[in-house]
Amino acid sequence: MSEGRFAGLYDAFFDVFLRGIQRRVAKIAARHKCRRIVDLGCGTGSQCVLLHNKKFNVTGIDLSSKMLEIARKKNAEISFLQRDITSTGFPDSHFDCAIISFVLHMNSKETERKILDEAKRIVSRNGIIIITDYSKPSTWKGKIVEIPLKIIENLALEYHKKNYRRYMGRGAMDFLIEDNNLSVAERHRFYSGVIEVIVAKNEKE
Ligand SMILES: C[S@@+](CC[C@H](N)C(=O)[O-])C[C@H]1O[C@@H](n2cnc3c(N)ncnc32)[C@H](O)[C@@H]1O
Repeated sequence: MSEGRFAGLYDAFFDVFLRGIQRRVAKIAARHKCRRIVDLGCGTGSQCVLLHNKKFNVTGIDLSSKMLEIARKKNAEISFLQRDITSTGFPDSHFDCAIISFVLHMNSKETERKILDEAKRIVSRNGIIIITDYSKPSTWKGKIVEIPLKIIENLALEYHKKNYRRYMGRGAMDFLIEDNNLSVAERHRFYSGVIEVIVAKNEKE
């Protein structure tokens, strides 16, 4: 799997659209008094840099060396690790918060489950998991806003495209929450409901 193909273009295309969402995520983390945060599938590291600048202790993890190369150039102080986020190697309950942003829709259902299981394992009890991903728009405006996103997703690698279609086809964020039994405390909608940020409480034993 290589998501690095468009790494050099990622920020140019998405930074401006993601900035407001990333700021909201930082506010949520502050409100929940998170200190140690892991960004699972951090990509080019923009969210990590924002959090680092706000004095959070943040670790970014991604599989793509090209994405991480860009992330490390942005800030050499942040720990950016090249690992599979289904098996991070961190001890149980090491973090207060895990962020999973635009990662689940591109993975298979099995991998999605493994990523969420790993997030639950490395986040402390009553810590939070913040997931940003696509939602099903319920209005015409939302359906129109969704069109450019569908075009962008269509440019992705074959496995990514296939998983995106499966994710959307089965009900996107609503299904993700239900299927993984997530205990959702907050839902924040962006761009006419096409993108959602959810905050799930980590209610492990
Ligand atoms: C669409 S990018 C999103 C990047 C960033 N989170 C954001 O919101 O801009 C998805 C990232 O997840 C990473 N990724 C997907 N599955 C992964 C896995 N199993 N282990 C590590 N990284 C993964 C990809 O390499 C890619 O950089």
